[in-house]
Amino acid sequence: WARHAPYVLAINRLKAERNAVILAHNYMTPDIFHGVADVVGDSLQLAVKAVEVQADVIVQCGVHFMAETSKILNPGKTVLIPDMGAGCSLAESITPDGIAQMRAQYPGAPVVSYVNTTAAVKAASDICCTSSNAAQIVAAMESDTVIMTPDQYLAQNVARQVPGKRVVWWEGSCIVHERFSAADLRDFRSFQPDTTIIAHPECPPDVVAEADFSGSTAGIIDFVHRMRPAKALLVTECSMASNIADELPEVEFVGPCNMCPYMKMITLEKVLWSLHSMTTPVEVEPEIAARARIAVQRMIDLSR
Ligand code: 13P
Ligand code: SF4
Repeated sequence: WARHAPYVLAINRLKAERNAVILAHNYMTPDIFHGVADVVGDSLQLAVKAVEVQADVIVQCGVHFMAETSKILNPGKTVLIPDMGAGCSLAESITPDGIAQMRAQYPGAPVVSYVNTTAAVKAASDICCTSSNAAQIVAAMESDTVIMTPDQYLAQNVARQVPGKRVVWWEGSCIVHERFSAADLRDFRSFQPDTTIIAHPECPPDVVAEADFSGSTAGIIDFVHRMRPAKALLVTECSMASNIADELPEVEFVGPCNMCPYMKMITLEKVLWSLHSMTTPVEVEPEIAARARIAVQRMIDLSR
């Protein structure tokens, strides 16, 4: 903390000067998560809070699609991302042409796109979802067939939860969660049978089947707080355990975990520079933003 303290002080001072708030995803490192964030949460919580915050400037500590979502919901605010290179393998896996292909293959089926997509893909979709509301959104669609993009594993996990629907999917995946394997989890359990295994639904379905609980990042944090297992294995990004370990000294967090190289591009130093230089503002073409807002707002309204 001694190394981080000058940055934390400078960032918090600049936040007040600029009337800025920092929205940080649960995968941010503890210096950002505990030191400078005003709001922390999963993708849904950050989208909902983006509309509620009273500020002129939002600094999005997360990846680019999250900053775009904040801008779509707040066209009048300045939304900054500390590193424009903070992408996402899911968002990069599909374009509006991919959505058109899926619509041609399954005529009349609604397109439910994960928020981990570009604004242009959201604009081409009927509704968005996050990992915390995907099953609820798919269940609410009137059609028997529902197209889910771009995460094949989230789609397959949702299909199990909503057996009345025929869920079809795009073949995208998250480079962090696709690397976990069911065999590794079984091995782990055979050596440490007293471990509670908790997996994010971006993991392949056989990995989720090995877990005791599966949920969004906020769902995982909530589960660990409620259940307080003696040993917990969080099958997700590494900062999740680091961010909650101090609040839960009775829980031993055990590995393995995987790092998201995109989330890790956001550092305390870059947050300070972002606020100092007001870079880099995220812009979304108004016509695309207007259509994307409909898909995001439908999701928010259905999740209440
Ligand atoms: P949630 O925080 O919505 O569970 O999403 C996880 C994720 O991968 C965000 O990039
Ligand atoms: Fe994208 Fe996966 Fe990183 Fe989330 S963890 S930003 S889904 S690559």
